[in-house]
Amino acid sequence: MDKIVISGGRPLYGDVQVSGAKNAALPVLTAALLTEKTCTFSNIPDLVDIKTIYKLLRNMGMQIEGEGTVELSGEKITDCVAPYDLVKTMRASILVLGPLVARMGQARVSLPGGCAIGARPVNLHIKALQDMGASVELHSGYIEAKADKLKGADIYFDLPTVTGTENIMMAATLAEGTTVLHNAAREPEIVNLADVLKGMGAKISGAGTDVITITGVTSLGAVEAAIIPDRIEAGTFMIAAGMTQGEINLLGCDPQHLDALINKLRDTGMTITPVEKGLKVSAGCKIHSVDVKTLPYPGFPTDLQAQIMAYMSIGSGLSVIAETVFENRFMHVSELMRMGADIVIQGGSAIVRGVPTLYGAQTMATDLRASACLILAGLVAQGTTEISRIYHLDRGYESIEKKFSALGADIRRVK
Ligand code: UD1
Repeated sequence: MDKIVISGGRPLYGDVQVSGAKNAALPVLTAALLTEKTCTFSNIPDLVDIKTIYKLLRNMGMQIEGEGTVELSGEKITDCVAPYDLVKTMRASILVLGPLVARMGQARVSLPGGCAIGARPVNLHIKALQDMGASVELHSGYIEAKADKLKGADIYFDLPTVTGTENIMMAATLAEGTTVLHNAAREPEIVNLADVLKGMGAKISGAGTDVITITGVTSLGAVEAAIIPDRIEAGTFMIAAGMTQGEINLLGCDPQHLDALINKLRDTGMTITPVEKGLKVSAGCKIHSVDVKTLPYPGFPTDLQAQIMAYMSIGSGLSVIAETVFENRFMHVSELMRMGADIVIQGGSAIVRGVPTLYGAQTMATDLRASACLILAGLVAQGTTEISRIYHLDRGYESIEKKFSALGADIRRVK
């Protein structure tokens, strides 16, 4: 199995191009299930999760051509099943549920089950479909949903769920009447999806706020659209600049999507300034420790919690990092501690006492963002860090070792 090997201690300098957002591309690709017409999407990142969604969609009869810019034709959908083998490797497979029920009147989707960062149920997706008149049963680990025609409804989400909001927004585009999503998630990826759906002829207002209104139409058509830049990848490189005492130009990012992080990083002493094509990000002389609390957008993203913890582990003081989105997202803590970090977990918070130096060690990635955290730690550690189980990394970061290497890091992939 592949490993990443890093010799730490080099400051990062130069330009890095931000890729298309995985979490925007996945729902947008499943939106192609809603129409018989051809959809063309550009800025699709080259990632394992994207290949997984292609496999799932092809199993359903979708024709998919191209890389980067991709054409999808769902003229004939022959199968409405998302099998366990694919769903277990990627929870976002649940995003086919809404589109399939809306267009095909049925779907059989494996329940995702637990994952490394917590139980992550999909009860809110199911409840919302039931509110729209679907019959939903659970059989042998599968969600079996049926509806001749979904009906518009007022949906109240207990929590602002990202993929739940996306699933039900897609389902509502072909429902009879108007659906209002209350306490909807507000992530930029939801706005990207809503724009794509509107391009297909859907009637949607309020995406990006916590109330989204969708009036169903009888059919949706072709669309050409681009995927937004990946704010989590961008954030990972910004933190890398701060940790390594470097200076990076982040090209093609959308600074508005990064407000919570930019504010936090400025508090740590970093300088972040807009430049023509993105952001210039420079380390401060000293790393001021700051407290962080993860929240749904526009709060600090849980998908950057592990990375900012790597940063705070070499801060000048004490940092309290509270994880409020997922109940078990501290798997990276024990690996960071093996590299010399001083961290105590108390309930949903990690108390991080900054240490002057991290030391290279053999480590193991436990999930996607934990892998990125270990890379960041390895970039500043004294000596050599080895990270195994990097298949997690390939799910969500495009050419990460090549991008870091181009910035001056001593990082390589070993087969
Ligand atoms: C999405 C992102 C993921 C990110 C997360 C939170 C994608 C493909 N993935 O995941 O990278 O970390 O948002 O920003 O976009 N919940 C329930 N019942 C449900 C649904 C969710 O209790 O039916 C809970 C979850 O357990 C979690 C919280 O709601 O505690 C938020 O989860 P959610 O926003 O749904 O995360 P995902 O959409 O799976």
